[in-house]
Amino acid sequence: MKDKQIKFVDSKKELSESHQLLVQGALEALSLSYSPYSQFKVGCAVLLENNMIVKGANFENASYPLCLCAERVALANVASNHPNSIVMAIAVTAQNTNQLIDQPITPCGACRQVIKEVEIKQKKEIEVLCFGMEGKISIWPNSNSLLPDAFDVSFL
Ligand code: THU
Repeated sequence: MKDKQIKFVDSKKELSESHQLLVQGALEALSLSYSPYSQFKVGCAVLLENNMIVKGANFENASYPLCLCAERVALANVASNHPNSIVMAIAVTAQNTNQLIDQPITPCGACRQVIKEVEIKQKKEIEVLCFGMEGKISIWPNSNSLLPDAFDVSFL
């Protein structure tokens, strides 16, 4: 089967209405960030099948390894509060106090693995939209495009 392609768009106006709302949700989620150690705010919004948008932001800790990423905070929120919902798409953005982010911010490896797990659980691919404060928006068609050959349940 042919791999789905990663797309780049120059402006939010080029997105579908639901993707525009999702991107807006990720921007709003930046204000939920607790990031006194990195000064790096990450906002995430998750679009559910019923068009509901669930937000999450990074949540840091003085014990640095305990920092939680925005994507996993948002997906844990979905798992706990909307357990039977299908995740259609995720948008991620970031704002750095120290420098302008002018390129798409992509999920870290651990978050890619968690997005993969949600896809397997729900048997449906998840689109991932990534963007910074300026510049292009990248649209990843599924977790495989972000994390090829991932470890999954088939190995257990
Ligand atoms: N962070 C996220 O929230 N998501 C990612 O995918 C990468 C990193 C957060 C963790 C930490 O609070 C800050 O960004 C700097 O690494």
